[in-house]
Amino acid sequence: MIGAQWGDEGKGKIVDWLASRADAVVRFQGGHNAGHTLVVGNQTYKLSLLPSGIVTGTLSIIGNGVVLDPWALQDEIAKLESQGVSITTENFALADNCSLILPLHRELDGLREAAAGAGKIGTTGRGIGPAYEDKVGRRAIRVCDLAHLDSLGPQLDRLCAHHDALRAGFGEQPVDRGALVASLREIAPFVLRYAQPVWKRLKKVRKAGARILFEGAQGVLLDVDHGTYPFVTSSNTVSGTAASGSGLGPAATGFVLGIVKAYTTRVGAGPFPTELEDAVGQKLGERGHEFGTVTGRKRRCGWFDAVLVRQSCAISGVTGIALTKLDVLDGFDSVKICTGYRLRGRILDYLPSHAGDQAQVEPIYEEVEGWHETTAGARSWADLPAQAIKYIQRVQELIETPVALVSTSPEREDTILVRDPFVD
Ligand code: GDP
Ligand code: IMO
Ligand code: MG
Repeated sequence: MIGAQWGDEGKGKIVDWLASRADAVVRFQGGHNAGHTLVVGNQTYKLSLLPSGIVTGTLSIIGNGVVLDPWALQDEIAKLESQGVSITTENFALADNCSLILPLHRELDGLREAAAGAGKIGTTGRGIGPAYEDKVGRRAIRVCDLAHLDSLGPQLDRLCAHHDALRAGFGEQPVDRGALVASLREIAPFVLRYAQPVWKRLKKVRKAGARILFEGAQGVLLDVDHGTYPFVTSSNTVSGTAASGSGLGPAATGFVLGIVKAYTTRVGAGPFPTELEDAVGQKLGERGHEFGTVTGRKRRCGWFDAVLVRQSCAISGVTGIALTKLDVLDGFDSVKICTGYRLRGRILDYLPSHAGDQAQVEPIYEEVEGWHETTAGARSWADLPAQAIKYIQRVQELIETPVALVSTSPEREDTILVRDPFVD
């Protein structure tokens, strides 16, 4: 399961709904830049790092592809436990080869954004980019290192040599190594409790015939290769990452479910062809409560962009989509769908790679009739107004991918099952 736009498509709600049918849920990339809101009865859960399956008590695993802030993990576990969610070594495991996000990563994220001027990406400020850089640069401290802090010396030298140079450029003090090691020593027992080679656990789970749900964070348009670079996150968010980010081979991924919002939103900077900076955009934002779960930032809103979602579905090999937040479109006289772009007099049926071109493409719209009946809370196809069904059908035609699920409210059970991802 992956997001097929710029994140916040409603992945958390769908994973939570699917989790009761799964035996394990696995996060395979990103970190606590993700923010998912799950509504179950009168309880609301907010998750960033833990797999959304934890709320149903399903075995939840953080794979090696995730960058892990141990303090964020501790806080999130404490918060969920205070809401009655049980998190134990039975239902939660953490890859011991995960790279850590350290305070120095968060600081660097902030320093870089502050210095970037017009080139600001609008990151979540969680240190995601700097942590992935250190992982690829072979400077990271990993979860397994927490059990060997006494022999951290040479690794710390590599890490600090790099960061001290960067920090000096920003006029900052060198890393306080003593404080860093002391804080790691303090948090280590908590993290190590859950740490293990999760590829082994997953191998066992898979051998037993279990159904494994891979939970992507962010969305394909934020993918570091395929997204709107450089306005992207620092991981691969496409479905293929499920294999490398968990330690299970690609054959373990079957049905690829793309989560797609019935309109479009984006947080942070970067191109957004169908963005509406008018009353309609405002209405979408208000009806959809489009404020970030992590940073509280207002999300930019716009019409559904079929060009982008068709591209995301192709790139991620999406088998079927979950169309979410259909209810937010209730009450519009007409609704627009972007079916192509105009760029310097040319018509395009895809988003070009160059950032300048991405910023310049103009959407070509198709206008369809809206509906005034409510779809909110619909749980079967028969509950949907005819025009809403027409909209869904047009969407699946344009994105060349069938609809498997439709979501009609934040509530877990307000979900229409069209095609079961675990059966097909
Ligand atoms: P995620 O990051 O993809 O998990 O999505 P977020 O949780 O950040 O944002 C989606 C928001 O929409 C959350 O507040 C959800 O509770 C809410 N939501 C999810 N599905 C629906 C839906 O079908 N209708 C409405 N109105 N809200 C929804
Ligand atoms: P979920 O999982 C929406 C965006 C940030 C910024 C860019 C880079 O809730 O869908 P980063 O902190 O990752 O370096 O920021 O990516 N971003 C998200 N936008 N939903 C998310 O996660 C996001 N995670 C990162 O706003 O534009
Ligand atoms: Mg989110």
